[in-house]
Amino acid sequence: MTPAMTPLTDRPSVAALLLVLLALFHSANTLQRDASKHKDGSTNLANALDAGGASRLLPHFDKAASKNVTSLLGKTAYLNCKVKNLGNKTVSWVRHRDIHLLTVGRYTYTSDQRFRAIHHPHSDEWTLQIKYPQHRDSGIYECQISTTPHMSHFIHLNVVEPTTDIIGSPDLYIDRGSTINLTCVVLYSPEPPAYIFWNHNDAIISYDSTRGGVSVITEKGETTTSFLLIQRAKSSDSGKYTCNPSNAQPKSIMVHVLNGEDSPREFPAAMQHGGQAHHRSSRLYCLIFCVCLLLLSP
Ligand SMILES: *[C@@H]1O[C@H](CO)[C@@H](O)[C@H](O)[C@H]1NC(C)=O
Ligand SMILES: *[C@@H]1O[C@H](CO)[C@@H](O)[C@H](O)[C@H]1NC(C)=O
Ligand SMILES: *[C@@H]1O[C@H](CO)[C@@H](O)[C@H](O)[C@H]1NC(C)=O
Repeated sequence: MTPAMTPLTDRPSVAALLLVLLALFHSANTLQRDASKHKDGSTNLANALDAGGASRLLPHFDKAASKNVTSLLGKTAYLNCKVKNLGNKTVSWVRHRDIHLLTVGRYTYTSDQRFRAIHHPHSDEWTLQIKYPQHRDSGIYECQISTTPHMSHFIHLNVVEPTTDIIGSPDLYIDRGSTINLTCVVLYSPEPPAYIFWNHNDAIISYDSTRGGVSVITEKGETTTSFLLIQRAKSSDSGKYTCNPSNAQPKSIMVHVLNGEDSPREFPAAMQHGGQAHHRSSRLYCLIFCVCLLLLSP
């Protein structure tokens, strides 16, 4: 059968042609998706091909071992640059922000004492050590190989701060008369906070106030946890409670003390956000399919 010669009045044949088109469209789509899935694989393939050729003697970066770094504020960061076949070339680190030369080979060039070049003989790792990293140290660092022209690999350093979280925030609903139990968790702090203050509507909670029944238990460690317990909740205990660690950001929670008869408010279910991917191709599938049905129907 030659589809091109089929008269248009022959509906089943046209439908067959459209089904073939549908199949072709589907396979093209699948191929495209596979191609994008294997985009990273192609560089591996290129490396593998290079390994067999003359270019295997040229220096190159081992990018899988020279990745972006997320470091805690104040906690020593290590930026790794792995170079294969360095030969008699040199590896340098340059801070991109101000094109400041930090290290050359095993020598530290910058006068900023926080930076240091680390390299062990016979290893192919050239590490930049940054002590006490600050927010302003976040940014791009360039690992350079002294070829002509030079080769560069860029590494992003992201300096993050300790985080504070109150379990159940932003809102806690509790029945009058029961115990308010607020749990504040401090993560990633380089050392346990010296103290954690709790505030109620911006006034520091004092544990020996006339209110009574208020206690705080703080457990220090790699993760520091502070529990604020308020017994026999009254409506005057409603409001904003803030956990204030000495070395991390404060975090707040709204406490709503409900009268006995009140039932907790209903909340609208979280909105579902469906993925938008492939919508266009599904619509096209539908269109082709519908045309087929139309043509096949007597
Ligand atoms: C490194 O981080 C930058 C900025 O966030 C990003 O554009 C880049 O793709 C990241 N590189 C890798 C290898 O993850
Ligand atoms: C580096 O080695 C190459 C051969 O591998 C040589 O031709 C070149 O002169 C050397 N350069 C230096 C600075 O030693
Ligand atoms: C308060 O809640 C935490 C969990 O969020 C729990 O581990 C702790 O035992 C509770 N404390 C009291 C006294 O109920």
